Amino acid sequence: MNSNMPKDSGFDKTLSILKEGYEFVMNRDKELDTNIFETRVLGEKTICLTGSEQAELFYDNTRFRRSDAAPARVQKTLFGEGGVQGLDGDAHKNRKAMFMSLMDNKAMDEIEDLTEKYWHEFFAEINWNDTVELYEAAKVVLLQVACDWVGVSLEDEDIETRAGQISDLYESPAALGIQHWKGRKSRSEAEDWIQGLIEGVRNGEIEADKDRALYQFAMHKDLDGELLDSQIATVELLNLIRPINAISVWVAMIGLALHEHPEAAEKLQDANQEQLEWFIQEVRRYYPFFPVAVARVAIDFEWQGYEFKEGTLTLLDLYGTNRHPDDWSEPEVFSPERFEGWQQTPFNFIPQGGGSYDFGHRCAGEFITIVVMRTTLDFLVNHLEFEVPDQDFSFEYNDIPAVPNDKVKIKPTRLK
Ligand code: HEM
Repeated sequence: MNSNMPKDSGFDKTLSILKEGYEFVMNRDKELDTNIFETRVLGEKTICLTGSEQAELFYDNTRFRRSDAAPARVQKTLFGEGGVQGLDGDAHKNRKAMFMSLMDNKAMDEIEDLTEKYWHEFFAEINWNDTVELYEAAKVVLLQVACDWVGVSLEDEDIETRAGQISDLYESPAALGIQHWKGRKSRSEAEDWIQGLIEGVRNGEIEADKDRALYQFAMHKDLDGELLDSQIATVELLNLIRPINAISVWVAMIGLALHEHPEAAEKLQDANQEQLEWFIQEVRRYYPFFPVAVARVAIDFEWQGYEFKEGTLTLLDLYGTNRHPDDWSEPEVFSPERFEGWQQTPFNFIPQGGGSYDFGHRCAGEFITIVVMRTTLDFLVNHLEFEVPDQDFSFEYNDIPAVPNDKVKIKPTRLK
């Protein structure tokens, strides 16, 4: 047996991760000419994987677990504690089914209608002399989409505050210092808000629509036939509201793509739904968002001659897999047409994780994300006229999530 897994030279690489961000795993794969290597992160031995073959290994539930994988700073901000991300086995299956039962065709039509409606409303209300930051606008629009869809009512005067609070949750996990602590404070404020609603539904003070997630999650029973702890139902409802709001990051990247790839943007005039979808799929492949998925080795095993020891922290490079030369031709080129007739497997295109939606940890909201992005692109191309002022479109690869520095400023001229 060859247990000589390629090793990243030197000591602990926590600082390199902070410096290199999305490109940390990719840089070492190139340097060491490998899809698998060992390093040290936060004082722990860590295995890094990239590419579709390695993704298939990573999503084997018999070999990897999630229960103690996510770093505390991520749980205290992004995920919350006790949510679906950290469950394994039957407990995970039961909780994941609660999410997946919401994701039917009717829900997708509704998400499409809400996205269209709130983009129109946003621009119907602006002062036409204003310059709008697309990223910040999307936070406001998508918070309203999320809250309507899950059944949470929002007062007009609270929208901006809540949008800021929710976006702090995904802007802070990798941040240091004040920004990180702001994220923790916002999580506790957002949880207070949602927990009050869950408890209100349970004690009958709030009359909730039975088809909506607020009611469904408040009344969901776990494997013991008990209601979820209200704190956990809260974390899970925020696991819908927060990531719908976070699609703003990709809305900003749509804006960047339209600017950076004028030839591809040109082809969107008169594009059909399928062509719009190729464009947003390419945005999800080409630009970074969620850097890695994290698990721990569940049992000792050997794979391709490499030894995996129970408990070892393991990172799957999502960004790198979407640009892996074994899976993609000319991965550095932005080309929406690559999706025409393209064959998807559960492991070769994984911006939102891979494997199975029901039995694994693949993102519950991938279809919602695609619908929101496609509808937003359609709005920007077919329903809004705007100019693009000079600005800084660059972003940093060690800023997670990465967003163009000026947040994609546009100068709207009219609604069409
Ligand atoms: C904004 C774009 C989004 C990105 C980049 C994203 C990315 C991800 C990633 C990388 C994972 C983890 C995969 C893994 O651990 O293997 C995940 C899980 C998850 N996502 Fe998303 N997501 C997005 C949008 C959404 C939306 C819109 C929803 C819900 C409406 C959602 C709900 C979830 C849930 C509940 C999980 C946990 C699944 C599990 O542990 O079984 N996400 N997402």
